[in-house]
Amino acid sequence: MGNNLEFKELTREFRMGSMIFGSRITAVDHVSLKIESDKPWIMSIVGESGSGKTTLARMLLRLLEPSGGEIFVDDTPLSAYSKNKKQFYRKVQPIFQNPFTSFSTRRTVESYLFETAVNLEVAKNRAEAEDVIVNVLHSVGLDYEQVKGKYTAQFSGGELQRISVARALIPKPALILADEPVAMIDASMRMNIVNLFKSLKADYNVSFIYITHDLSTAYYVSNYIAALYRGNLVEFGNAQEVLNNPAHPYTELLLESIPRVGKLWDDAKVLPDIESREYQLGACKLVGRCPYAKEICRSKKPGMVDLSPEHRVLCYKYNNYNAT
Ligand SMILES: Nc1ncnc2c1ncn2[C@@H]1O[C@H](COP(=O)(O)OP(=O)(O)OP(=O)(O)O)[C@@H](O)[C@H]1O
Ligand code: SF4
Ligand SMILES: [Mg+2]
Repeated sequence: MGNNLEFKELTREFRMGSMIFGSRITAVDHVSLKIESDKPWIMSIVGESGSGKTTLARMLLRLLEPSGGEIFVDDTPLSAYSKNKKQFYRKVQPIFQNPFTSFSTRRTVESYLFETAVNLEVAKNRAEAEDVIVNVLHSVGLDYEQVKGKYTAQFSGGELQRISVARALIPKPALILADEPVAMIDASMRMNIVNLFKSLKADYNVSFIYITHDLSTAYYVSNYIAALYRGNLVEFGNAQEVLNNPAHPYTELLLESIPRVGKLWDDAKVLPDIESREYQLGACKLVGRCPYAKEICRSKKPGMVDLSPEHRVLCYKYNNYNAT
């Protein structure tokens, strides 16, 4: 099994208000990226609030239909899975942001693990399921005895998020998608969970998409970084290259505010809210606040420029401000 992923012109629009007086917002705007790898990887998706990270994640989890474009996991388009949710969830698994709402307070936490094992046909009966569960819990540093018979209130956020990770491992998926998985847990535990992704990557041959506001955790674990700005993929590439030499003026801004471990960047400080009319213009969406902006940035949208085989950027600066 490979570890290939491709977004091809992936787009999602939302209508706001009525059909006549409403407006449209392009939450994900023709995003294209491709990872071809025979080894598992971790890609972090970074970007301020409202940049389209969750919309992209929901399309990848098939919770939301794209308005345009396509996603390929291991070269198979997601639309090919349409009749078989089970087959899809054996391949792609989610970890959600809030561990306290991922599990109901009225059910034991282990019941979710058994349910996943049986529903996804990883185990035929309870005894087989228990073997699988003992193993996945062990992989995230927990003993089954610590989990057995307990409810959410008996765990910390960090423990519950480890259990969420264990649950996601049950079908041995090719890809785990974690949308802000550490945002709700204690800062001192965050690196712990994110480092877990790194060790599981090799042990389970599973790739991760890690969606985060916390660039400092992304820095330590990522193989790839994708920066989103107002629905556009503005920079994508090898994490070391992007983080050590950010090419896009927006990534530069994000990194200026990076920091020490655990510090979140302050959206309000990085970018003030944008005027909605700027969306409508045939312009680079960053033009209003980019120190490198030139006339062409105001009149025509930039195209992607390849800086190296593993580093792409959506900016005129890198082709001498020539339209493509
Ligand atoms: N169901 C929806 N209906 C209308 N607009 C939506 C819907 N879901 C998302 N949006 C809009 O799409 C844009 C992208 O939202 P999204 O939740 O994907 O951003 P995000 O990057 O995940 O933000 P955050 O960091 O706050 O989680 C926002 O402008 C948001 O208001
Ligand atoms: S295209 Fe122009 S405005 Fe947009 S980020 Fe590049 S230099 Fe700035
Ligand atoms: Mg989100």
